[in-house]
Amino acid sequence: MTAVPDFPFDPKEFIGKRALVTGGTKGMGQAIVRRLSAAGAKVATTARSPLPEGQAPALFVQADISTAQGVNRVASAVLDAFGGLDILINNVGGSSAPSGGFAALSDEHWQADINANLLAPVRLDRAFLPRMIERGQGVVIHISSIQRRLPLYEATLAYAAAKAGLSNYSKGLSKEVGPKGIRVNSIAPGFIETTAATALIRRIAAEAGTDEEGGRKLLMDSLGGISIGRPGRPEEVAELAAFLASPRAASIHGAEYTIDGGTVPTV
Ligand SMILES: NC(=O)c1ccc[n+]([C@@H]2O[C@H](COP(=O)([O-])OP(=O)(O)OC[C@H]3O[C@@H](n4cnc5c(N)ncnc54)[C@H](OP(=O)(O)O)[C@@H]3O)[C@@H](O)[C@H]2O)c1
Repeated sequence: MTAVPDFPFDPKEFIGKRALVTGGTKGMGQAIVRRLSAAGAKVATTARSPLPEGQAPALFVQADISTAQGVNRVASAVLDAFGGLDILINNVGGSSAPSGGFAALSDEHWQADINANLLAPVRLDRAFLPRMIERGQGVVIHISSIQRRLPLYEATLAYAAAKAGLSNYSKGLSKEVGPKGIRVNSIAPGFIETTAATALIRRIAAEAGTDEEGGRKLLMDSLGGISIGRPGRPEEVAELAAFLASPRAASIHGAEYTIDGGTVPTV
């Protein structure tokens, strides 16, 4: 990971810190890996596919973390290599459920979305928290979604419900481990133009017989519009994650930060 983030940052802020960012080969995860590494952290990451050429995190573990075995593989590789973690960013999530509303979603679709969006972070937290608690310090961040309170029903009922569970779990966990020195927060992105979002834009465009720009507009319209007039960028989410992971956010705990360009219409 040689590319430098777009925003000014302190290149020494995370020196001596060990981090795991799940799903760090694309999208927001890749931007977060890059941001933490550029500020001096030793960063491990995971993906199901092999590490793409040109990326060089301190540690890469190829595993599907929507399974217990995959999480175990990641946890033992990271504990062997790093001995523990100071920062755990649970970024993996998403859905490949079909469109068609409630009737199109089988038990298998529901379970897959719960596994990737809720159980993966729950299992990883369980693997790493004991050592953080022993040391009396650590930071855990969960990447949720605005869909946890602004659910869409065409293809994402299960995804939105799993993210709602994640945000709720994140708050509950914060109450338990905050007094032991661990800070837990979540981030709820709106439409961020990542690899996954670009694929969705192309699918929407193809279905509607329009071009990529038309597909982007249709996606923005389906969210009720984005006040700032554009989707967010992965680097913008990475800035928020870096801030929350840093001592600058020392009294921010049990909170959820929305980063959606003004999409959610309510207070
Ligand atoms: N993009 C948005 O608009 C948006 C909005 C709200 C919330 N979010 C949330 O933000 C997070 C990141 O989304 P993104 O859009 O950046 O995703 P993305 O571009 O699709 O990247 C996902 C990353 O996670 C890895 N990954 C996916 N499933 C995995 C699994 N089961 N085990 C291990 N690695 C896995 C992917 O690599 P492989 O494919 O090789 O496994 C990739 O590195 C997710 O939790 C998503 O729900 C995204």
